[in-house]
Amino acid sequence: MSINEVYQMQYKKEELTRSSHNMNWEICTALQTHQSKIGGKRLLNREMTDVLEDSSMQIPEKAKQEGLVDYADRLSGLYARTYDPLNRKQKGQFFTPKQVSVYMASLFEIHHNKIRLLDPGAGTGVLTAAFCERILSKGEVVDLTLDAYENDANLLPLLEKVLESCKLELEEKGNNVGYNICGQDFILHNEGYFRESDLFLRSENPISYDFVISNPPYYKLNKDSPQSRVTMKLIYGQPNIYMLFMALSANMIRSGGEIVFITPRSFCSGLYYKKFREFLLKNIQITDIHIFESRKDIFSRDEILQENIIIKGRKEGKMNENEKVIISTSKNRNLNKLKNFEVSENDIFYYKNGDVFIRIPTSLSDVEILRIVDSWPNTLKDLGLEISTGPVVPFRAKDYLLPELKENSKSAPLLWMHNIQGTGIVWPLRKNKKALAIHVSGKTMPLLLHVKNYVLVKRFTSKEQKRRLYAAVLLKSDFPYKRVGIENHVNYIHKPKGALSVYEAFGIAAILNTTVIDNYFRTLNGNTQVNSTDIRSLPFPQIKDIIKIGEIVYKSQSYENSLNLDIIVAEILGTNVKMEKTKKGVAKDE
Ligand SMILES: C[S@@+](CC[C@H](N)C(=O)[O-])C[C@H]1O[C@@H](n2cnc3c(N)ncnc32)[C@H](O)[C@@H]1O
Repeated sequence: MSINEVYQMQYKKEELTRSSHNMNWEICTALQTHQSKIGGKRLLNREMTDVLEDSSMQIPEKAKQEGLVDYADRLSGLYARTYDPLNRKQKGQFFTPKQVSVYMASLFEIHHNKIRLLDPGAGTGVLTAAFCERILSKGEVVDLTLDAYENDANLLPLLEKVLESCKLELEEKGNNVGYNICGQDFILHNEGYFRESDLFLRSENPISYDFVISNPPYYKLNKDSPQSRVTMKLIYGQPNIYMLFMALSANMIRSGGEIVFITPRSFCSGLYYKKFREFLLKNIQITDIHIFESRKDIFSRDEILQENIIIKGRKEGKMNENEKVIISTSKNRNLNKLKNFEVSENDIFYYKNGDVFIRIPTSLSDVEILRIVDSWPNTLKDLGLEISTGPVVPFRAKDYLLPELKENSKSAPLLWMHNIQGTGIVWPLRKNKKALAIHVSGKTMPLLLHVKNYVLVKRFTSKEQKRRLYAAVLLKSDFPYKRVGIENHVNYIHKPKGALSVYEAFGIAAILNTTVIDNYFRTLNGNTQVNSTDIRSLPFPQIKDIIKIGEIVYKSQSYENSLNLDIIVAEILGTNVKMEKTKKGVAKDE
């Protein structure tokens, strides 16, 4: 049986299921190819035509001189103005700006004349339109099949208009073009690509794509959702749908095929994406990463504050060792002042503690920093230390929170992020009526720590802040209480078997507060969260050097200013990295 026959059978089966549920509509009963020779069967069913008639949205025709991307972008704008932003957000609908679409399409290496392109989560088809413009600009005649998945019925008529325009325009130049629109859930409709064999093995499937271009939806899925169940092997904690789109696409391309995705950067680090990263790097050779320096205006129409990257990868039977990755950066979505440089894979893919992280240096000095810090021999675990998250979750512990410390021993100080000031702890410190203390009782005992020397690290900072890491020492000798509560937005570093010495604590806090570690951390993590997994993966120098740094810092009180810390750490470790002017080389503690 041919691959296509298998495919047709699969859909016949689905058609039967659908009619048995009395669903009298036709979107995607099969991937119906629109060939001019066939005449192009109209996809829209009555349900969708009704939607169109109900909505006030008239779909404008493409103007004669208008480019395909311009037209798709015009329709995205129209759709965005017509439908409620909240509703669009729930569906993960953030449309790709024109310049970004064109840039994404420019990344493919197109060497064949018979091409099958997949655009999952197609919206109005702006990415497919950009691919078609790329084909037009190449000027070579191709045989092209475009497959687009979009599960919002309101978008399908717009998508169809754009794909029809692509077809007409390309066929005018002698190309042969067919397109298919599937109005169903991309993940569920293609679960066979996951189901048939073990995820980590190559499975035989009906269609293998040459290229996938996608700006997938971005929203959290319930762990028990049908989509999560289909992709269980990749899931840890609460998955985000964009990760499933990437994984499925990686399974749907042929060997040698390429994917280009624009996604949030969150999958590059953090525990939730651990299994996915492992899967991705086993299946896809990442060749290009583009990062936007400003996260503010990529999806400005939709007020998105996610940090986004464009990632290009190739499916390989066997990975090439030591391949270079091209990193490019641009200030914003206009992609002007595009800078790029090549980095060795070893600098980017960082294997530590049984995990792999994807780091994104944005300059050669970042690469230098990665190499220096990577040469440090220890992790917290190697030093006999652990990092934990503050156990006091205010809304859960609300019955035990107190506005003041009581005079007897029935209460303990409560430390929040705002108590981290410079490299020390300032308590009491009032902020927004936050509780200053917590009850000490049998019920709260599991939430409280014995007062010892700890290093406290803020759990939430943003790219726009001067530094990503803010660490401070809670010094037992300065804190005359028996117990302390640490709020959940603070991580604390401790020695499970014993206690940190004063110099160890100051040494660790000083290293975490340096510009070198700040830059290192930024290559690793683009979230607002400072995950404890990321800190666990950080290299630290030898303990004797940590102690030496801690002693100098403690005695000289020079931790007031991170520039001094940089000098102290550089002197002890013999590292002197020249920071780029654009980096936070002179950042001071807040
Ligand atoms: C981030 S938007 C991108 C749209 C378009 N590709 C672009 O670049 O402008 C993601 C699209 O995926 C669609 N979508 C969401 N969940 C989907 C699913 N499970 N299957 C197919 N499409 C989905 C949304 O309706 C939305 O149009």
